[in-house]
Amino acid sequence: MAQVRVTVDGVNYADDVEPRTLLVHYLREQLGKTGTLVGCDTSNCGACTVHLNGQSVKSCSVLAVQADGAEVTTIEGVARDGKLHPVQEAFNEFHALQCGYCTPGMIMQAIDLLGDNPDPDEHEVREGIEGNLCRCTGYQNIVRAVQGAAQAMKPGATADRGAPAPVAGGGN
Ligand code: FES
Ligand code: FES
Repeated sequence: MAQVRVTVDGVNYADDVEPRTLLVHYLREQLGKTGTLVGCDTSNCGACTVHLNGQSVKSCSVLAVQADGAEVTTIEGVARDGKLHPVQEAFNEFHALQCGYCTPGMIMQAIDLLGDNPDPDEHEVREGIEGNLCRCTGYQNIVRAVQGAAQAMKPGATADRGAPAPVAGGGN
């Protein structure tokens, strides 16, 4: 056994883990953070994406002991005082999820992407989330949601934007 001391979603933990324990399994099985998911065993799906010291990582490809001394944020730590993160709001507003299995990892990756590039164009969003697979949505609404969140997070944007604007086009 090895010891890991880590802050997860603002709470400090000190636990014994096997050196081979993956961070995703530590989060899910020892801490009960089941919002972080496993969708593959080859590091390609991104369902396990969390932030490690502020950067998105695939937690299936990190050992728990490698997170010793680090700060981890999962999907369960991004809402504040019961208020959804703007990226969570946007995924809801733009219908960017169906089964919801890819969604926690997708949102964690989108938050990281918007931290690096606060106003990405469509191509930049698609490239930014290319490490995250979704079998339900066809990605289109995910791209819209990430761009919608970027607008909502711009300085000066009102946090509560009310109902989404009607879809343009369609004639009269
Ligand atoms: S579980 Fe698929 S990349 Fe981590
Ligand atoms: S919403 Fe089902 S996998 Fe993305």
